[in-house]
Formats: sequence, C-alpha cells, structure tokens
Amino acid sequence: MQQAIAMLDSGVGGLTVVKEVMRQLPREKVIYFGDTARSPYGPRQPEEVRAFTRQIVDYLIQYQPKMIVIACNTATAVALEDIRSRVPIPVVGVIHPGARAAITATRSGYIGVIGTIGTVQSGAYDQALRRLSPHVEVVSHACPRFVPLVEKGLFRSEHTWDVVRESLESLRATPIDTLVLGCTHYPFLTEPIQEVMGAGVELINSAEETAREISTILQDKNQLSTKDEMPVHQFFCSGDPVIFQQIAKEWLNDQLQDVPVIWQVP
Ligand code: SIN
Repeated sequence: MQQAIAMLDSGVGGLTVVKEVMRQLPREKVIYFGDTARSPYGPRQPEEVRAFTRQIVDYLIQYQPKMIVIACNTATAVALEDIRSRVPIPVVGVIHPGARAAITATRSGYIGVIGTIGTVQSGAYDQALRRLSPHVEVVSHACPRFVPLVEKGLFRSEHTWDVVRESLESLRATPIDTLVLGCTHYPFLTEPIQEVMGAGVELINSAEETAREISTILQDKNQLSTKDEMPVHQFFCSGDPVIFQQIAKEWLNDQLQDVPVIWQVP
C-alpha cells in the first residue's frame, strides 16, 4: 500500500495546495478532505475550528498517512500545535511557508496579509513574519466575503470582481509591495486580486512553498514515493459532492481520476 499525504481544509481552498503537490511531487498520493458542509471556518470560534480539525484528522489517520497537511490558514492558526501534539507523524501548516515566501519576495519591507477573520485575529502571520524578519511592516486585512464566493465556484463573475474591489480598497492606499494570500481559497481569485492591487504588488500563494516544505520533510525522512505508476488520489467532502467535484476538476485540470467518495459529517 502506498502511504499517502493526508490534507484537510474547510472546503475547496486546500485544492490549491493539492495542485502544487501534484506538480512538484507527482508520485505522491494525496488523500484530501474538504469540510464543505461547515465552511467557512473563518468566522468561527478557535475552539470550534480546533474541534473540527481534530475530528477530520481522526478520520484521515485511519488511512495511515505518512504526513498531515493542514491546508487551511484558519485551522493552521488555531490548531497546528494541537494536532502536532496528537499524532506521531509530521504535521505541516500553510502559514510559516507563506511567511517565508513573503520575506523572500519583499523589497520595501512592507507586507500585506489578507485572510479570514479568524486568521487575522490570531495574529499568526504577524508573528511568523516578524520572527523571520523583525523590522518588517505588516498590514493585515480580513476579507470574509471571499471564501463563500469560492465555495460556490464563482471565480470570475462580475459580482466577484466588485467584492474584490470593495474588500481591497483600504489596502490599495498602503505602501505594500507584497501581498500574502493568507487563505488557501484566495488563489482562486488571483486574477481579480492582482488586477485590483496592480502589477507593483507581488502576490504570495503559500501553496508552492508548502509543497517545497513537504518535499524537504519527506526527503529527510527518506519517505518520498519511488513508485513508477501514477498515484490515484482520493477526495472526500462533507457537503455537496457535485459542486466540490466540479471545482476540483476545473482547478486540477481534470487530474481527478475517480469520483470523490463522500463522508457526511454527522
Ligand atoms: C475558511 O474556511 O474561512 C477559510 C479557510 C482558510 O483560512 O484557508
């Protein structure tokens, strides 16, 4: 049996990390759980997000994965340490990799972070960025209207462009040169976000750096897959499987080889 990398998110956002893992580590099998029935996590209390995360990890662990990836910024912010203390395998979050990529990218030292209310209130990005570079200026801004649009598959509608324009208006007045997409759903909105922020602002999608971290850890542990045949990934969600599958197929360029198996959250 090929040991998989298990990933979880509040919904479809973590597929942005799946895509990057498929690109950088094409031999690795992914088992993904999107908690679409309880999305968004952003406005929920930290204790509730921790409880959901634990419940999903308990479910995924029965597949005996070699690693857990919390492909959700809100859950990473409030549950990463908790999950690390509960399972005997490496647990990777998405905040530290995103922060590292932002520090590498910025020239002015002014970094913007957009995320959910939960992520912004946790201060996790500010801490991660300042730990890496103490003198950096961080402007954090919550965009609570983005996740529901992405979960509905509305990436390019006129309404979506309006929401992005309105949500980012205050950030445009700041001197940032780098903007962290501090929610794994936001790369679905890269086009409107880049257009609104302008070419002078570099967008950071933490998926690329997260996949690199996964690769480094697996390499260090001598656990990279050496299988020749392409892996068959497995997808689970707790809500409407049709919309999940539609978004997954479009985002992963039809690399979905089988119909997602659906686990209903009780
Ligand atoms: C959410 O469910 O509100 C967004 C997930 C994330 O923070 O990446």
